[in-house]
Amino acid sequence: MKTGRKKIIDLLKTPPLGENVTVKGWVRTKRESKSINFIAINDGSVIHNIQAVADLQKFGEEFLKSITTGSCVAVSGKLVQSAGKGQSVEIQAESIDLYGTADPLTYPLQKKGHTLEFLREIAHLRPRTNTFGAVLRIRHAMAYAIHKYFNDKGFFYLHSPIITGSDAEGAGAMFRVTTLDPETPPRTGDGKVNYAEDFFGRETSLTVSGQLEGELAALALSGVYTFGPTFRAENSNTPRHLAEFWMIEPEMAFYDIYDNMDLAEDFLKYLTVYALEHCADDIDFLNKMYDNRLTERLQSVKDATFERISYSNAIDILLKSGEGFEFPVSWGSDLQSEHERYLVEKHFKKPVILTDYPRAIKAFYMKQNDDGKTVRAMDVLFPGIGEIIGGSQREENYDSLYARVKEFGIKEKDLWWYLETRKYGTAPHSGFGLGFERLILFITGMSNIRDVIPFPRTPKNAEF
Ligand code: 4AD
Ligand code: MG
Repeated sequence: MKTGRKKIIDLLKTPPLGENVTVKGWVRTKRESKSINFIAINDGSVIHNIQAVADLQKFGEEFLKSITTGSCVAVSGKLVQSAGKGQSVEIQAESIDLYGTADPLTYPLQKKGHTLEFLREIAHLRPRTNTFGAVLRIRHAMAYAIHKYFNDKGFFYLHSPIITGSDAEGAGAMFRVTTLDPETPPRTGDGKVNYAEDFFGRETSLTVSGQLEGELAALALSGVYTFGPTFRAENSNTPRHLAEFWMIEPEMAFYDIYDNMDLAEDFLKYLTVYALEHCADDIDFLNKMYDNRLTERLQSVKDATFERISYSNAIDILLKSGEGFEFPVSWGSDLQSEHERYLVEKHFKKPVILTDYPRAIKAFYMKQNDDGKTVRAMDVLFPGIGEIIGGSQREENYDSLYARVKEFGIKEKDLWWYLETRKYGTAPHSGFGLGFERLILFITGMSNIRDVIPFPRTPKNAEF
């Protein structure tokens, strides 16, 4: 008798022993003995498979032979205690529908143990592996936890635009958005491309950050956050950079940099605890397969008090470290990943929040310190990752901000609306950006950012 489909996660949680059940999913392995076949099925609801036992006489050898690794089936039958090792329950198959076969001669996931590099080349099929199932479920759980965290705190989710006319970070690494024909664009009298004739009547790009719009809303709703895709056209081919990544950017009126640091620390610990409590099976799997210190590292971050030191003190520590860094250390230059990881993994052995960076290496919107040299920036550095959060207190004084806008060569006509918030009812405020994929790297223990997003966009790669 066929029954309504059950998800494997529910069957394993409270197995209705003796009842007829139906599961639908993809065959992970099949073992054959003389009179029966054991078919391990996974439906993606949980990392565990369920085993179906199929009688050779009942189903016929030819039919069972056509069920191979990767094929998709619906199996109905009685759920019973399993006598075999490796599973507690199994289904005694009464009926099997074969939805889709997978030719063993060509199915790329026929065998186990593919490299992550190979799996990147088959991004259309890699969700069917245990690893990507685990990563994608954890990604979902973290996205949900992020919304829950802010909702429970009374923050509002702000949908900042993806197409923008401004460059929030001032790094100039933006993807252009246009409907003009690149072969024959309209031109002005002096031969320049005439963007007045473009779709929006101006130059536009994909956003690098939702922060500026977040600030506009925070100066009305007090506490908001954005959570959306952001785009950077920098040519950094590293295990921690994507051209398209997701960012969470809370922005809070009436927060100074200390409140900002407290929120960032609390937020990251909340997400770590949420993952430990809700993603235990997937984390256990990743701990076993990729990184046997993962669970320990997650626990340690949850229990740690993040170290808070200034950039200048960090430079002193690095200069005195005696380490042979690839990139030289000097006051005024940006920290490289190797420097950040030295501070976190070797020196302090816990997450570090670095503050008060040189003004020359940070964005125009950061609040300037009285020393005339540094700004009220805060970066959170994590074990195995380096920078996971970048944020700051914002410059709320109109004149000081205006001076910075000029200094950066930003055109006033591109940012007049941002400046106006400092003219009308300005307020001290702060915020930060958490790179979602860097968070997922930390939670999963994966080592390449291409393996924690379903379809990575990196230089020369946007196939899937
Ligand atoms: O430090 P960033 O550039 O800061 C901002 O964009 C600010 N507007 C945030 C704010 O204050 N609201 O980026 C923030 C975080 C980084 O710490 C990093 O985790 C992540 O975004 N990130 C990237 N992740 C993947 N690929 C890239 N190319 C990234 N660039 C930044
Ligand atoms: Mg940064």
